Amino acid sequence: MLKAEPLPLLATGAGKKAAVAVTGTILYGFVFAHAVGNLQVFLGPETINAYGAMLHSMPKALWGARLVLLGSVVTHAALAMNIYAGAKAARPTRYKVNAPIAEQSILQRYARQTMILSGPIVMAYLIFHLAHLTAGAVPGLPFKEGDVYGNLVRGFQNPAVAVSYIVANLLLGLHLFHGGVALFQTLGLRHPQWDARTRPIAFLVTAVVTFTNVIIPTAILTGLIGSELR
Ligand code: HEM
Repeated sequence: MLKAEPLPLLATGAGKKAAVAVTGTILYGFVFAHAVGNLQVFLGPETINAYGAMLHSMPKALWGARLVLLGSVVTHAALAMNIYAGAKAARPTRYKVNAPIAEQSILQRYARQTMILSGPIVMAYLIFHLAHLTAGAVPGLPFKEGDVYGNLVRGFQNPAVAVSYIVANLLLGLHLFHGGVALFQTLGLRHPQWDARTRPIAFLVTAVVTFTNVIIPTAILTGLIGSELR
């Protein structure tokens, strides 16, 4: 008699989607906390440098968080691309009419359609960002260990760097917005009646993160903060 072997969870479509949703939630939580923490740049060098020193004073927690984030980014990107490739192979021609339930806004449609583009761009941005502000390894951008304020200001006084951050963070905003809506769908919370409540939540959290991430390079580039280091 044939015995049905259970599939490993990550070999199933539902398992992959659940893993993308769980890792996406972890990354969402990080970008939100990171954005709110970075706002301290507006309080001056002492405050933001003390915040950086506090994070570095807990090496075990820092490395634990780094490992969880790295694992989440890799799993999230690999499984999302795998799901996308699988869906494309299963249906090489696109649907003529493609209107998932209650998808109304242009922003939401644009966010969904650019997901496969915004994902890799955000990844490239992240690699640059770590080289810039964590490793201090970008030629031409001065970096001093522990001087978070100075590193930020000197980085964003360079227009090319500030504009790249702004563009990448706007794309990240689109990615987060669609990701938030998709997350509610994976959790089974997508329904025309609930959409009216869940979509504004995804929009609000994304708006806070995006506004913060765009306002910091903008404020430095325009000299609103950091002009004393020119
Ligand atoms: C304008 C927006 C942003 C600013 C001003 C900013 C600022 C910083 C700074 C100053 C550091 C170094 C902290 C330290 O070493 O003490 C850092 C690290 C980091 N940032 Fe950002 N960040 C921004 C956006 C982002 C975004 C959107 C992401 C994720 C997609 C991100 C992910 C990270 C990660 C993973 C680290 C490394 C943390 C570590 O392990 O040391 N950042 N960021």
